[in-house]
Amino acid sequence: MQLTRPFRGGLKKVLGLFCAVLGLYFLVSSFVALNRQDDQARMVAEEKYVVGSDRKMYEYNRQMPLIFIGGVPRSGTTLMRAMLDAHPDVRCGQETRVIPRLLQMRFHWLKSEKESMRLEQAGITKSVLDSAIAAFTLEIIAKHGQPAARLCNKDPLTIKMGTYVIDLFPNAKFIFMVRDGRATAHSIISRKVTITGFDLSSYRQCLKKWNSAVEAMNNQCRELGSGKCLRVPYEQLVLHPKEWMQKVLKFLDIPWNDSVLHHEDFINNGIELSKVERSSDQVIKPVNLEALTKWVGNIPEEVVRDMADIAPMLSVLGYDPYANPPNYGQPDDNVAHNTKEIQKNKVVWDKKAKEMFSVGWDNGDGDTALDKEPSDSPNNTT
Ligand code: A3P
Repeated sequence: MQLTRPFRGGLKKVLGLFCAVLGLYFLVSSFVALNRQDDQARMVAEEKYVVGSDRKMYEYNRQMPLIFIGGVPRSGTTLMRAMLDAHPDVRCGQETRVIPRLLQMRFHWLKSEKESMRLEQAGITKSVLDSAIAAFTLEIIAKHGQPAARLCNKDPLTIKMGTYVIDLFPNAKFIFMVRDGRATAHSIISRKVTITGFDLSSYRQCLKKWNSAVEAMNNQCRELGSGKCLRVPYEQLVLHPKEWMQKVLKFLDIPWNDSVLHHEDFINNGIELSKVERSSDQVIKPVNLEALTKWVGNIPEEVVRDMADIAPMLSVLGYDPYANPPNYGQPDDNVAHNTKEIQKNKVVWDKKAKEMFSVGWDNGDGDTALDKEPSDSPNNTT
């Protein structure tokens, strides 16, 4: 059937009008549905960014792939952060000290059911608390040092709350430094590093404390899984730095860069060291073996005899509790060379350390200004 031209034109207009009405209907109804789902007023945070000295803008947010370095203090955590800091894409920086304390406070706040209920009543739900804690943590990490594509934090005890940290920052990853507990205990005692819970007059007690702290951290690391937490043995890192830094960077999805093997070249030139952290004078040196077996012969005989019972985590982590020392392996040539050179130039290195860190510590007298505070205890229950 042939339609007349005016009739065809009229039909087009009617159809057009119908489509427009239909479109408007869908627009209005989806807007109403959207508002129905989300009919509460909301606070919306502004976008966060830092401008670097390169004039680039670095955004930071909870989805970013933050790096956390953890472990019992004296396990090579500062060395790991210095090696990562040497990478052009990464910034770790000094210990912030406040982050593990804040994370721990959250557990204290929510420990009692009554207090949790009171907070809930006041509108301070877990999710409000979490977003506030995440914002604080992120602000500290982002702004306590130079901006970088990959931000990293080295507060050794944060890993005790690893699973919670991943709730806050779902794309974060952990590097968990482990070390032979006998070496860690010897380091704490011989250097008089005061950490609450560690009795500096007793190897037995320090090893027990090490055991419970490393067990808690290891449990967290296991719970996080191999995609989120990489265990790095200090001994293997110093014997084979290239092999282990390749593993670390691959795990973190960071491209390889040789600079991580020469962190000592970047001290005060990209790597800022603390005047008051107790590892600063050791970390200015290239990777070396000085600290590997210093503990041998320093632990009382009756403690050596009971080692497997005192510190069962030694075996769990792959250290023979009856070998003094265990065979950690043969070093790479360059590490053996570094160690010889450092020993040959001991006076020069000591002088350099003294010049750089003339305030803060005096190796062994236990300057109380440097004491770790109660909340730093690796054994504080959460
Ligand atoms: P010792 O105290 O036994 O010497 P942390 O930073 O976690 O507290 O760990 C400190 C340990 O890391 C120290 O052990 C220190 O010697 C070691 N360390 C620091 N810099 C190092 C380097 N350049 N090469 C090898 N080990 C290093």
